[in-house]
Amino acid sequence: MKNNAYIRGLGYYVPERILTNADLERMVDTSDEWITTRTGIKERHIAAPGEATSDLALHAATAALADAGMEADALTHILLYTLTPDYYCPPAACLLEEKLGIRGKFAQDVNAACSGFLYGLETARAIVALHPEAKVLLCAAEVLTSRTNWADRATCVLFGDGAGAMVITGEPGPDQAHIVDARIHSDGSLGHLLTVKGGGSAAPLKLGDTVDETFFVQMAGQEVFKNAVRSMVGVCEEVLEASGVTTADIDLLVPHQANLRIIDAVAKKLSIPEGQCVITIDRYGNSSASSVGIALAEAKSTGRILPGAKVLLVAFGGGFTWGASLLQF
Ligand code: ACO
Repeated sequence: MKNNAYIRGLGYYVPERILTNADLERMVDTSDEWITTRTGIKERHIAAPGEATSDLALHAATAALADAGMEADALTHILLYTLTPDYYCPPAACLLEEKLGIRGKFAQDVNAACSGFLYGLETARAIVALHPEAKVLLCAAEVLTSRTNWADRATCVLFGDGAGAMVITGEPGPDQAHIVDARIHSDGSLGHLLTVKGGGSAAPLKLGDTVDETFFVQMAGQEVFKNAVRSMVGVCEEVLEASGVTTADIDLLVPHQANLRIIDAVAKKLSIPEGQCVITIDRYGNSSASSVGIALAEAKSTGRILPGAKVLLVAFGGGFTWGASLLQF
């Protein structure tokens, strides 16, 4: 399955409201110094009350469609990767379809935690391999702050909200930008290290229950950190080898934005210079599934991705899930 999934448009969105480290200093026992040195985060964007995942996805999708020069009704498939859908039901992808003013499409929510954008790319690639006429909207969007425990300083400083989107087709655009190859993995035996459990079918809520800490993101930070670095480096090497490309050929690395120290360690182990690594974590924090989509779309819109560029995407998240994808612009 090679060179048959074309990148036609990119878009991203972050909510207006900004929460700075100084704001967090007033909420929990933390400091700008701790957050900056341990994570690289200075501020993050937070959804407004009532602003849901499908709303963020709508902004990113509209930008990606404009970039592709395509009307929403031309789409055949809507994939929405998120671990924070608007509701259990209806699916956020159907809400997004409705907000785009279209109907009758294939619309689906999928949860692959922070690896959502990478999983989505591979799913879109499979869809256009099966249906060469398909026009797929891939959105990865999160309002992770809806599942953030604002009393837990170990996690609440990390997350932000946002959405990234891409339009993928079986027909090439003028620039022939495409997905070269990808490798995607998971390991459920380590799922307990990063969880959002409460309210699921294994831990259902009853009328009148109050939520406890399990309703929010809980993480064994150091274990996740070590696995993230090892897995991200390994999967990058896999996809490069499969594509007959070395790290010296890579123009830009777009990693999941979970921690600046993770990104630095991955880039160093791959011998990719700091200047060829896209960093958004200082401004957007960890926006889970959407972070790679946001970073990629922002890099493209600011002229960091030139025609012919080879761009390596990599992500790691809850599940565990991880993956890498090589793009050629
Ligand atoms: N402010 C001040 N001190 C803090 C804070 C804070 N916000 N948070 C924790 N601390 C303290 C701890 O209590 C601890 O204190 P102690 O030594 O007195 O016990 C100390 O800082 C060190 O805590 P650690 O958890 O060991 O800190 P670490 O350096 O590991 O950094 C972090 C924590 C940032 C979470 C890091 O482990 C990390 O980034 N992990 C990976 C995250 C990741 O990749 N997630 C994947 C995707 S997320 C998703 O899928 C939703």
